[in-house]
Amino acid sequence: MKITDKYHRPVFSLRISITNRCNVKCFYCHHDGIIPQNYEMTPEEIERIVRVAKEIGIKKIRLSGGEPLIRDDIIDIIQRISSIGFQDVSLTTNGTLLGKYAEKLVDAGLNRVNVSFDTLDPETYRFITKKDYLDQAKDGIKKASEAGLYPVKVNMVVMKNINHHEIWDMFQFCRENGAILQLIELLKTDNCPDTAFFDEYHYEMDEIEEELVELSSKIKTRQFMQDRKKYFVEGGEIEIVKPMDNTNFCKNCTRLRITPDGKIKPCLLKNDNLTDLINPIRQGYSDEELKKLFLDAIEKREPFYKEEC
Ligand code: GTP
Ligand code: 5AD
Repeated sequence: MKITDKYHRPVFSLRISITNRCNVKCFYCHHDGIIPQNYEMTPEEIERIVRVAKEIGIKKIRLSGGEPLIRDDIIDIIQRISSIGFQDVSLTTNGTLLGKYAEKLVDAGLNRVNVSFDTLDPETYRFITKKDYLDQAKDGIKKASEAGLYPVKVNMVVMKNINHHEIWDMFQFCRENGAILQLIELLKTDNCPDTAFFDEYHYEMDEIEEELVELSSKIKTRQFMQDRKKYFVEGGEIEIVKPMDNTNFCKNCTRLRITPDGKIKPCLLKNDNLTDLINPIRQGYSDEELKKLFLDAIEKREPFYKEEC
C-alpha cells in the first residue's frame, strides 16, 4: 500500500518518541516537538501501533525520545518492531548508553543509529548537556560502528560561538569512526524550554555549505529525506539539515510521528493537530478502526513552511 497526503507527499516513515526521560539536559532540546510529559507506552502498545502502521504503508521506523536507551525494555521493543519486517529500523540516541547496548541492539534487529553529539571539548559538552559524559558518548559512537550498525550518523547541532569552529575536527572524528557527520541548523520551536538562546546561537550554514561545494567530489540530494544535501568529502560524508523557512524541506517530508503518550503527530513543529491512538487501543478498537485514525492524521498533514501562492 502506498499512501500520499493531500499535498501529494508520500508518507512512509514513522518516528516514535518512546520516552521523554533523558539522562542529559541539552539546553536547546526541542524534545522532538513534544511538550515534556511523564508518559510511556508499553512494548505491546508500541508493537500494535507499528503493526497497523505497516498496513497503511509505513516502511521505516525510527525510535527517539527523550533518550530511548534509558528504557529498561528497549531490547524487547526493538525485537518486537524488527520482527514485523521493515526496510529500516533506526534509533536517535545521545550515545551515552550505546557502549553498553550496541551489540544487543544489533542482535535485536536494529539497523542503524543517529547519535546526538555536538562537541569534542569536555567544557563545551558540559555547557550543552550539564553532564560529564563526553567519553561515554565517544565510546558509544565507536562501539556502534564496531557492532555493525550502519550507517552511524553523528548529529551536530551547529551553534555560533559554541561549536561552529569544531566542524572539521568533528568531521575528522567521524571519519576515524566510520560515521557520517550530520550538520544540523539550530531550530526554534514553541516547546523549547527557553527560546532566548536562539538569536544568540543560531548559526547560518551558508558559508560552510559553500566550502563543502568546493571540497566535495560528489553531492547528492536526498529527495525523500526532506531534500537534504549530502556531500562526499575526502573519504567522508557530511549531510546538512536546514529546515528553517525551507519550503523544499517540508515539500519532501514523508513522516508521521507518535508522541510518548500515544498520539499521532503530523509535524515536528505543530501541536494543534494530533490524533489520539492510545485511548482507542485501550478501548479495544480493531485494526481497521486504528488504520482509519492513521488516515485521519495523514489528512491533517500540512507543510509547516509552504510556498505562498
Ligand atoms: P535519517 O537521515 O534517516 O538518519 O533521519 P534524521 O536525520 O531525520 O533523524 P534525526 O533524529 O537524526 O534528526 C536529525 C535532525 O533533523 C534533528 O535536528 C531534527 O530536529 C531534524 N528533523 C527531523 N525531522 C524533522 C522534521 O520533520 N521537521 C523539521 N523541521 N526538522 C526535522
Ligand atoms: N534544533 C536543532 N536540532 C535539535 N535537536 C534537538 N533540539 C534541537 C534544536 N532546538 C536534535 C538533536 C537530536 C535530534 C533528534 O534533534 O540533536 O539529534
